[in-house]
Amino acid sequence: MTPGSAGIRREIEAVLPRVTNLRRDLHAHPELGYEERRTARIVAEELRSLPGVEVRTGIAGTGVVALLGAGLPGPCAALRADMDALPLEEASGVPHASKYPGKMHACGHDGHTAMLVGAAHVLHAFADELRGPVKLIFQPAEEGGGGALKMREAGVLRNPDVAAVFGLHNMPSPDLSAGDIALCDGPMMAGAGVFEITVRGRGGHAAVPQACVDPVYVGAQIVNALQSVVSRSNDPLDSLVVSVTKFNAGSARNIIPETAVLAGTFRALDAAVLRQAEERIRARAEDVARAFGAVAEVDIRLGYPPVVNDPRANALVRDAAVEAGTGDRLKTTRPILGSEDFAYYLEEVPGCFWFLGSRPAARPQVPFCHNPAFDFNDAVLGDGIFMHVEIALRFAELWARLAETAD
Ligand code: NI
Repeated sequence: MTPGSAGIRREIEAVLPRVTNLRRDLHAHPELGYEERRTARIVAEELRSLPGVEVRTGIAGTGVVALLGAGLPGPCAALRADMDALPLEEASGVPHASKYPGKMHACGHDGHTAMLVGAAHVLHAFADELRGPVKLIFQPAEEGGGGALKMREAGVLRNPDVAAVFGLHNMPSPDLSAGDIALCDGPMMAGAGVFEITVRGRGGHAAVPQACVDPVYVGAQIVNALQSVVSRSNDPLDSLVVSVTKFNAGSARNIIPETAVLAGTFRALDAAVLRQAEERIRARAEDVARAFGAVAEVDIRLGYPPVVNDPRANALVRDAAVEAGTGDRLKTTRPILGSEDFAYYLEEVPGCFWFLGSRPAARPQVPFCHNPAFDFNDAVLGDGIFMHVEIALRFAELWARLAETAD
C-alpha cells in the first residue's frame, strides 16, 4: 500500500514554499563543481532536520548522501540530484539572480537539488510506508567534473547496495510542456570525447613552398579526412558526430608556419562506436600528416560515457506515473547528443534518467540550459518532487512485479 497520491500532493503543497525559497537561494548563490560547500551545508542541514534520516557529507569532496528506511528488507532505490553551477555571467534579470560574478545556475541544478530536498521531506513524512531503503544522492560537479564517477568510486551505490538509480533533468524545450515526464528506452544521451591535433611541418617563406612542409595545408586535409570518420566508415544507423571546432596556425601572410593546432569533439550513443571513432580520428590524422611529410600529434580524452537507460527501470517510472494518476504526462523522447555524468551510475547499476518538461505553459520558447538568460521554472518543483516520491514509495512493489513479468 502507498499513502495515496492525494496525500502526497498535500504533503508537497505544505513543503513547497520552503522548497521554492531554497531553490531561489541556491540560484542566488551558485557554486562551481567541487566548490559546492555552501550548497552542501544547506542540503545537509535540511536533511538532518528530519529525524531518523542518516546523512553523510564530504563524499567526493562536497557530495551528500541521505538514507531513509535503513535496515528495511526491500530493495534499495537511489534518487540523484546534481548541485553545481556554470562559469557564466547571469543575464536573466530575475530578483534571485546570481550574487557571484561569473557564476550561474544556468542548467537548473538548483531546481534539481531543491526538488530532491523536497522529496526527502515528503518521504520522511511517509517513512512508515517504505518497504526498502531509499538513498538520496546529492553529487558535485556534473558539468564536466565527473562528480558521479567520484561518488561511485566513493561507494555511494553500495551499503546498502542500490538496486536501481533514478535521476531527472529539467527540459525547457518547446516539444515538452511543464510537468511532462519524457522517457527514452536504451541509449538516451551521448558519450563524448575531445581531441587536439598538433600538426608539425617545416616553416619558411610563403613564396618557397618546395622548401617547406605546410601544416596549414596538411591541417585542412585532416579536417576533410575527419569528416569521413562519420560519413564513410561509421554505420549510418549508429549516431556519431565529429566536429572540428578550432584551427589555429600562422602569424603572417608571408610565412608558412611550423605548426597548426586543430581541436574538436566527437559524440556517440554507443560506447563501442565512441571507441572506434577515437581510433579512426587518431589514424586519419597521423596517416594524412605522414602522407604529406608532416607529423600529427594526437591527444584524445574521453569524457562521459553514454547514458543508457535500463528498460525495466524505465518501465518502473512509467508504471509509477500511471498508478499515481500522471500517466497522461508520459512522453517518449528521442536521444540527444548532449552528455550527462549520470552515465557513470548506469555503468554499475540499472536505472532511468528522464526529462521533466519545464517550459512555462504560456511561453512557446524560453532560454535553454546554459543560456545566460535561463532560469529554472519553479512551477515544476512540485511535479519533480511528486515523481521522486512516487518512484521511491512504489519501488519495492513495482521492481518485484517487473522481475516476475521478465521471467
Ligand atoms: Ni544539467
